[in-house]
Amino acid sequence: MPWVIGASCLALLAAVTVVQAAPSNPIASLHVTSAAVESMMDFYDPVTGRWQPDAPWWTTGNALQALLDYMTKTGSRQYMPQVNNTVVIQSAPLPWWPSGDGDFRADSTDDTGWWALAMVRLYQLTRDPKYLTIAREDEAYIYSFWDNSTCGGGILWDIPTRSYKNAISNELYLKLTASLHNNIPNDKFYLSRALQEWEWFKASGMINSANLVNDGLSTQGTTCINNGGTTYTYNQGVILGGLAQLYMATGDQSLLETACRIADAVISSPLLSPNGILTEPCEATETCDPDGPAFKGVFVRNLDELDNILPGHPYRRYLNDQVRSMYTADRNSSNFYGLKWAGPFDQTEIARQTSAVSLLVAALEG
Ligand SMILES: *[C@@H]1O[C@H](CO)[C@@H](O)[C@H](O)[C@H]1NC(C)=O
Ligand SMILES: *[C@@H]1O[C@H](CO)[C@@H](O)[C@H](O)[C@H]1NC(C)=O
Ligand SMILES: *[C@@H]1O[C@H](CO)[C@@H](O)[C@H](O)[C@H]1NC(C)=O
Repeated sequence: MPWVIGASCLALLAAVTVVQAAPSNPIASLHVTSAAVESMMDFYDPVTGRWQPDAPWWTTGNALQALLDYMTKTGSRQYMPQVNNTVVIQSAPLPWWPSGDGDFRADSTDDTGWWALAMVRLYQLTRDPKYLTIAREDEAYIYSFWDNSTCGGGILWDIPTRSYKNAISNELYLKLTASLHNNIPNDKFYLSRALQEWEWFKASGMINSANLVNDGLSTQGTTCINNGGTTYTYNQGVILGGLAQLYMATGDQSLLETACRIADAVISSPLLSPNGILTEPCEATETCDPDGPAFKGVFVRNLDELDNILPGHPYRRYLNDQVRSMYTADRNSSNFYGLKWAGPFDQTEIARQTSAVSLLVAALEG
C-alpha cells in the first residue's frame, strides 16, 4: 500500500512502501525563529546564568534546551557564550540542595532530568565529553531514586520526602537513558536501564484508556493505580521523544505504534487540541502556574523528534498549523508570544517565550 496524503501515523507505519511527503511549506522561517530567540534572550540574566531568575529553576534548563535545539537545527553558534556561562554557574552546588553537590543534581528528579537532556544535546553539538559525563552523573543520581518498594518500581519524584511516582520523572529518565545509549558506542548498560524503565512505565497504568498520560500514580498499600491527575501536555510530549530514542536503540516497531497512539490522542483531544490548536488544560480555567506555559513547547519539541523518524512525517501538518495560529494570533510586534496559541496575545515571560521558540524550531526543516 503506497503512502497517501493525510494518512495517519499508524497507517504509515503499516504501509509497505512510503512515498515521502512533498516538502511542506513551513511558515516558520529562519527569520521568524531567530527573532523569537532574540526576544527570549531578553530574559537572560548573565549574572545568574538564568532566564528570568525569579522563574522556576527547571525553566532555565528548558530554555537552554530550546536554545541548543535552535543552534543544532540552524547551525548557528551565536549563543555559545551564554550556554557556557549558564553551565558554569548553574552546575555549581545549588543553594537549596547543596547535598546534590552540583552538576544539576537537584531536589526533585525531574528538575535534574531537564538539565541532563540539555547536556546530551550540548555534547552532540560540541563533542566535548565533559557534557556527556555530567549527563551520566545525572542518570546515576536519578536512578538512585528508583524504588521497588511500591508500584513494582519506578523513579520517585520528590527527593526530600521520597514520595510520588509520576509520569514526568519517569519519562525524562526513559529519554535520558535511551539517549545516552544512542550516544555511547557499544553501550549495553543504559539500554538495559531504558528497557527497565519502559517495561515498568507501560505496565504502571499511567497511560489511560484514551491513550493519554495522566500525571502520576496513587499508592494503595504497595500497589498503585493511575491517579487521574491532569493530562498536562508535557506528559504527552517527553514520552514521544523517549520512545523515539528507544526505537532508534532497538528497532522495535511497537514503540513507534505506542508513540503514535499517544500523539494521535493529543491532536484529536477536545481538551488538548480544541479546534486543532494545542492548549494546556490550565488555559481554559486561567489557572496556569509559572510552570504550565512551558509545557506546550516540551510537547512540540518531542513531537518533532518523533516525526523526524516516522515515514511520511504525519505530524508536520499539525506543527505547521500551530505555527500559523501562534504567529498570526498570539504575537506582539516585538516578537514576544503569549500563552494561548489560538490567541489573543496576553503577556509574556520565559515559559511562554520558550514554548514559542520550541514550536518555531520544531517546525523548521531539520
Ligand atoms: C567555558 O569557556 C571557557 C573558556 O572558553 C572554557 O575554558 C570552559 O571549559 C568552558 N566551560 C564550560 C563548562 O563549557
Ligand atoms: C528493582 O527491580 C528491578 C526489576 O524490575 C531490578 O532489575 C532491580 O535490580 C531492582 N532494584 C533493587 C534495588 O532491588
Ligand atoms: C511585547 O511584549 C513585551 C513583553 O511583554 C513587551 O516588553 C514589549 O514592549 C511588547 N511590544 C510591544 C510593541 O507592545
